[in-house]
Amino acid sequence: MKETEIHLRYVVYESSDELTAEDSSLLEEARKVTSKAYAPYSKFHVGAAALFENGKIISGTNQENASYPVGICAERTLLSVAAMDQSGIPIKTIAVSYNNTYGQSNNPISPCGMCRQSLSEYEVRNKQPIRLILSGQTGRVYIIPQASDLLPLSFGSEDLK
Ligand code: THU
Repeated sequence: MKETEIHLRYVVYESSDELTAEDSSLLEEARKVTSKAYAPYSKFHVGAAALFENGKIISGTNQENASYPVGICAERTLLSVAAMDQSGIPIKTIAVSYNNTYGQSNNPISPCGMCRQSLSEYEVRNKQPIRLILSGQTGRVYIIPQASDLLPLSFGSEDLK
């Protein structure tokens, strides 16, 4: 018998003022694009913006549906467009922000389980880790070095062999 541990290392900034210019402008894009979310049911507007290795930026927002499970998160909206528009180009960083009509928007949120699985697959597909910048409209910012760090012991393509 052997007990093992998995550790998550991430960086916390008190505000986006402490970020590099590149990270700060990507986060700004994620914050701004929340206005394009379609979230009439939850009123929780999420925005994600990806910076590709070629310098391109693509964003996505959550798109809800009256049949609730049909809705899609901002991160997966983004990854679907990315896979088509920037096929084969690795993503360097994705910033995620939100605007909560019913509450505060000053604490980072992190991707749901389904999005973590999609982000991990994207890393494998393009052979490069994706950094995550997580923050609300204001307040603290988390930097996660690699999206798949958020999904330890995950199921992946290797398991299907
Ligand atoms: N949502 C996202 O788009 N991304 C996240 O990281 C968390 C949750 C969406 C799904 C749903 O439309 C709304 O936020 C409330 O859960």
